[in-house]
Amino acid sequence: MCGIVVYVGSKQASPILMKGLKRLEYRGYDSAGIALLNKNVRVFKSKGKVADLEKHIAGQNLEATVGIAHTRWATHGEPNNINAHPHYSQSKELAIIHNGIIENYDSLKKELVNRGYVFESDTDTEVLIYLIEDIQKNEQVDLFEAVRIALNQVIGAYAIVIISKNEPNVLIGARKGSPLVIGVGEGEYYIASDASPIIEYTKHVVYLEEEEVAFVKLNHPLKIKTIKNQEKTPYIEKLEMNLSELEKEGFEHFMLKEIYEQPRSIRDSFRGRLNLEQGIVNMGGINEYEQKLLNARRIIIIACGTSWHAGLVGEYLFEDLARIPVEVEYASEFRYRNPILTEDDVVIAISQSGETADTLAAIELAKSKGATILGVCNVVGSSIARAAHAGAFTHAGPEIGVASTKAFTAQVTVLTLMALALAQRKGTLTSTRFMEILTEINSIPEKVEKTLKTSQQVIEIAEKFKDVRNFLYLGRGYNFPVALEGALKLKEISYIHAEGYPAAEMKHGPIALIDADMPIVFIATNKGTYVKVVSNILEVKARKGIVIAIVTEGDIQVKELADYVIEIPETEEMLVPLLATIPLQKLSYHIAVMRGCNVDQPRNLAKSVTVE
Ligand code: F6R
Repeated sequence: MCGIVVYVGSKQASPILMKGLKRLEYRGYDSAGIALLNKNVRVFKSKGKVADLEKHIAGQNLEATVGIAHTRWATHGEPNNINAHPHYSQSKELAIIHNGIIENYDSLKKELVNRGYVFESDTDTEVLIYLIEDIQKNEQVDLFEAVRIALNQVIGAYAIVIISKNEPNVLIGARKGSPLVIGVGEGEYYIASDASPIIEYTKHVVYLEEEEVAFVKLNHPLKIKTIKNQEKTPYIEKLEMNLSELEKEGFEHFMLKEIYEQPRSIRDSFRGRLNLEQGIVNMGGINEYEQKLLNARRIIIIACGTSWHAGLVGEYLFEDLARIPVEVEYASEFRYRNPILTEDDVVIAISQSGETADTLAAIELAKSKGATILGVCNVVGSSIARAAHAGAFTHAGPEIGVASTKAFTAQVTVLTLMALALAQRKGTLTSTRFMEILTEINSIPEKVEKTLKTSQQVIEIAEKFKDVRNFLYLGRGYNFPVALEGALKLKEISYIHAEGYPAAEMKHGPIALIDADMPIVFIATNKGTYVKVVSNILEVKARKGIVIAIVTEGDIQVKELADYVIEIPETEEMLVPLLATIPLQKLSYHIAVMRGCNVDQPRNLAKSVTVE
């Protein structure tokens, strides 16, 4: 949520900052701005996308080797030129960029207004930079110290970077609840909200920890202290990410590229963990906690959005294969409802970004009650990955499209392996059955490849229904979370209203919606409750609803009933979500493109939701 990119070195800052903003645009895209430091601090900002900022700065003198840049997802104040970041201090000697929310900004602002300060914007960020300048002047301290003192008065979340006219070649960064990473190059430093804008310049990075403030000065070693004034030694890590993972590589959109990456990302998520020859699943990251999981009173899965849908598949998997009771919770509800937790509970937190504020807060709550926390994250070094006691990364690679696709199938893959590892240890599956499932997982990437070839049918269906106002998605068992995920994908990128429901619940309400204009997507694969789903399809047809069915290759019964059919390869029931989700991702993609929507940056959304 909001993107930060910062440079100090000997190169021209503005091209680096603009390129970085484009890489970060998926984090927020309602306004953007840069501040360049060359004798004075000059701020350029613009409502809209980074391309609008680009037009705004064209032809201007942008000479500077130090600069900060920001792409915004509005929290305080509407997205306009004034509320866009960076923000000047009152004297215009300082400029700040900020991700997060200062919750007590109102009381801080009142105090500053009483002292004669006049604010230009509606933002909490401007309050913070005024406060910092006020402290600097009144307490006669340098910028590093003024930031540290100010942050002790702040309630809320922040990742900030500040530059000062009076301290050229110095950047002050700080974080709490919102990530900040410092790239250490040869005679240059970078700072960003994630590693994507840094990776092409240096692979050496330092992730700031909670409540740390960094003093970054050109040609000087990095200094870090906590806001409580405790010195810290910077820990430099090497990034594993490649630049090519951040490019579209010929695809029209990141979302489409990421959909097509799934054979690889699923394989990468089980590579090194699933060993067919030895007949074992080895989840290195959580081995140490395996006993804890086996003895767990229950597993609680916490997540948001698509990750929550993966968690629902996880519930079926853990209960079905390993016979361990599971509850799946929205992190945002869990954190505020005084949940009953003990040391015998294991919490699995699922998050692509590893930065979702609600999931992070739910983890802290569960930790405070003594529960063991395991993370299933995609972004290495992310806050959730670091807050968990242990975990398993999903290895999907960077996901840039705002709508989550490959992260979902990677999460489901990892959860399947975790459930299988526990089932093997508990002996809840016969070795023959265990090996059958293992062998089938190994063939999933090929089957995903095949499923991806259904484009023609999907495009025809998209063409037909791109203008309808409502869609219903129905599935049962393992296919219920698939229905939820299909509906979420459609609504977030095409703005068509879509509901996901357990198919049998249809008759308890949604059936009233069905008429001859209503497309209903059934995930009607051939295992589990297939026969029951066929009855649900009959109920829809009896009311003249239009049925689009995802079926198993060779299906006869549903094909006779449905108006449109997309076939997916035969697989084990618990692995169907890995295949059935693919045509639904593609359906929403094509509908959104046909409706002229911005697929990678849907309105009002942001990739990592680091605010409540
Ligand atoms: C949907 C989507 C969101 C995220 C949710 C959680 O396509 O992207 O619903 O799944 O915001 O994000 P993470 O997984 O990063 O915690």
